[in-house]
Amino acid sequence: MRRITSAAELAALSKDAGIFVIAPARAYVVESEREVSHAVREAAGDGLSVTPRGGGTSIPTQSVGSGAILVQARASIRLTQDTVVCEPGVVKADLNRELSKWGRWMPVDPSSYASCTVGGMVANNSSGARTLKYGSTADSLAGARVVLADGRALALGPATEEALSGDPLTRKAASLILENQKEISEDAPRATKNSSGYRLEKVRRGSFLDLQKLFAGSEGTLGVITEATLKTRLRPKWRALFVAESTLHELDAAVAAFRTLAPSALELVDKSVFRSAGRWERVSRLSRSDDPFMIFCELDGDDGGLEEEAAGAVGGLDPLLLTDEGDISAAWEARNETLTFAQDMVKGGRRPVPGVEDLAVPPGALGDLVELLVGQFERRGLEYILYGHAGDANLHARPLLDLSEPSEAKVNEGLMEDCFEEVWKMGGSMTGEHGDGMLRAKYVPRQYPRTYHLMEELKAMFDPKVVMNPGVKIART
Ligand code: LAC
Ligand code: ZN
Repeated sequence: MRRITSAAELAALSKDAGIFVIAPARAYVVESEREVSHAVREAAGDGLSVTPRGGGTSIPTQSVGSGAILVQARASIRLTQDTVVCEPGVVKADLNRELSKWGRWMPVDPSSYASCTVGGMVANNSSGARTLKYGSTADSLAGARVVLADGRALALGPATEEALSGDPLTRKAASLILENQKEISEDAPRATKNSSGYRLEKVRRGSFLDLQKLFAGSEGTLGVITEATLKTRLRPKWRALFVAESTLHELDAAVAAFRTLAPSALELVDKSVFRSAGRWERVSRLSRSDDPFMIFCELDGDDGGLEEEAAGAVGGLDPLLLTDEGDISAAWEARNETLTFAQDMVKGGRRPVPGVEDLAVPPGALGDLVELLVGQFERRGLEYILYGHAGDANLHARPLLDLSEPSEAKVNEGLMEDCFEEVWKMGGSMTGEHGDGMLRAKYVPRQYPRTYHLMEELKAMFDPKVVMNPGVKIART
């Protein structure tokens, strides 16, 4: 175990991909679960909070904190027949490379897959373009080991209520969740993606309780993930990519047409980001019109190949069809770099900022979500970017603002307030995949009017002294 106390090294850990900068008092680089326990106990004993950190790609501020930052260096990968057991430091791109040697795949690829870690993906319930067909990280999580705030290690996986009764803590957590199933299902957003709050509705599965899923998306607030068992699958034998162009007005209808093909991914690409960032060459070959947006629709499968009917069904949209693997990969690499390129869009002191950057609504309400966002931006006279996971009606919209100006920070607050309120009315989530973090923590009680108190109770059970990532997700505890 390495303790970091030098100001320079701590400064490097004071920022992630979010907007807040918080210098930690200390950091630990740990090599084993035992060292995680040791570090958590030591920090808590010294009155410090603990913030686990993976690749530092968090957008709503989940991986910085004023106490101790915990970095797990180990990154071993152990394959079984249809799962992979990962230490938390495994970078997703490395896992992809290892699995591909065996023709296998864990299909959740956040756009930050080249640097994000499996530990962070589990803690955030991360997802990506192919969540449309293959679900989010929580859906692939077959088991987990965690270290709790008191330093105790716990193994979690599918278990009966009886099995969980052996331990007072898991018994209490399981009972609370089982006794409140009605409220839990009423409160769950009807969007197909959600990373807000604790995913209580995912825990009960028939006669099993998947308590590991309580930790998927808990953002380091219940404990530290020390090992994750993820389901893997065979790679699809073929894939193809349609690229169409669209205005925002036509988007809803175009996405609805592509959705009939049951795609593996259905994405919205904002051409203005590539132009403004001087990166137009990355997508120029895909563009054949002046329409401001592109739609990527990927199909994959094992039998046959792309049916003629598929091309016919979307013929009216006149899409380009890519079937060459190199062309498809290049298109996805460009799409995945949207946010990186967007960081270069600085106009005056303004840049694209997070806040309403991850709204998700039921897929049929995509048109309403676009109308809401554009209306809110235009009313305030703001420039904006708009891209994301159109098939899941999960859009990454960012206004250009200078948050160092208090009046502009207030505009961002107003946008969050107004957009979240409308998204909740639509049955959606204020965050489809990026999580609550510190940025959205104060809104979580309103996202879950009937069950937030259960989340607070669970937090109090697992972390009574509020050691784990305070200020994130459960802000009031
Ligand atoms: C994306 C990330 C930021 O989809 O979620 O680009
Ligand atoms: Zn995304």
